[in-house]
Amino acid sequence: MAEDELVPEDDGGQSLVRSGADDVERAAEAALRPRHLDEFVGQPVVREQLSLVLQSALSRGRTPDHVLLSGPPGLGKTTLAMIIAAELGASLRVSSGPAIQHAGDLAAILSSLEEGEVLFLDEIHRLARPAEELLYVAMEDFRVDVVVGKGAGASAIPLALPPFTVVGATTRAGLLPAPLRDRFGFTGHLDFYADGELQRVLMRSAGLLGVPLDVEAAAEIASRSRGTPRIANRLLRRVRDWAEVRGDGRLSLAAARAALEVYEVDHRGLDRLDRSVLTALCSRFGGGPVGLTTLAVAVGEEPETVETVAEPFLFREGLIARTPRGRVATADGWAHLGLTAPVPTGTLFG
Ligand SMILES: Nc1ncnc2c1ncn2[C@@H]1O[C@H](COP(=O)(O)OP(=O)(O)OP(=O)(O)O)[C@@H](O)[C@H]1O
Ligand SMILES: [Mg+2]
Repeated sequence: MAEDELVPEDDGGQSLVRSGADDVERAAEAALRPRHLDEFVGQPVVREQLSLVLQSALSRGRTPDHVLLSGPPGLGKTTLAMIIAAELGASLRVSSGPAIQHAGDLAAILSSLEEGEVLFLDEIHRLARPAEELLYVAMEDFRVDVVVGKGAGASAIPLALPPFTVVGATTRAGLLPAPLRDRFGFTGHLDFYADGELQRVLMRSAGLLGVPLDVEAAAEIASRSRGTPRIANRLLRRVRDWAEVRGDGRLSLAAARAALEVYEVDHRGLDRLDRSVLTALCSRFGGGPVGLTTLAVAVGEEPETVETVAEPFLFREGLIARTPRGRVATADGWAHLGLTAPVPTGTLFG
């Protein structure tokens, strides 16, 4: 399957640690993708569950239940979908919620599926309602109703489909309507990786890229990668660039630190945008509360970029918090900038 069939996500800003992937990166990622379940680092729970689903299907000579993979960007959903097809020895067809504009588009894909194929539907929460309804029937009854003719004379001819497996991926499982969620026999939820796991991802990637990565450097990069393999691999490539151009080619701890300083990724994994949001919140708005739009204007970004690129990580790290009146910086947020939170005015004496 060509990876460029994958529909690029809209990932907003240009930050080095932002979560989506562009076309150039897609090619780089393709080279680093684990091909089999036992090469897939971390996520022991999902890996074991999935391996049981696949092994049992293989031993029964049947197609496995439909699989839903959910979790934040860059944690391995697409990678797992490809692994599922590879482990089953099946071919993989790829589409996505946003790419399917009309129910007819999905009907065309479904009616061309061959027995045992894996249909990967990325961003499945963005499927249009009519396509979603068509998918319910196809997943449950292996049938698609093909509409022939137009207007009053139109009729639906049921077409039986061969058994196949849908692998759905979503970053927003909560947006999936219950009837659709129920049609997946297995849901794997991917969680952020521990630093030690990211270190293993990095050592593996360095091996594939043929670059000498020191263990201490891997630990340093891992700790700044926001629990996300995609970011870890991205930072690894930047450290490699630095080591090749400014260093002696070796990816040492010193090289990692110097490179990540050039790219403005701090010790906790915050990049320029994250820090400017936090700085604006503290320095310009006294720690908040401040509304999203005002905050976005202050840092010269679109509100959507601030909301989807910077904030989720800042929330997760406990550096900012959301209140009914807007965003506020936490004590940890102030401390991260080396600033002291002002004493609330109500408690001042005099
Ligand atoms: N468990 C893992 N072990 C090794 N590498 C991994 C693992 N998970 C992800 N990666 C690497 O991270 C990159 C991103 O993973 P992937 O594209 O599968 O994420 P995703 O969950 O589909 O993200 P998105 O939601 O943005 O589509 C891949 O190129 C892959 O090399
Ligand atoms: Mg993906």
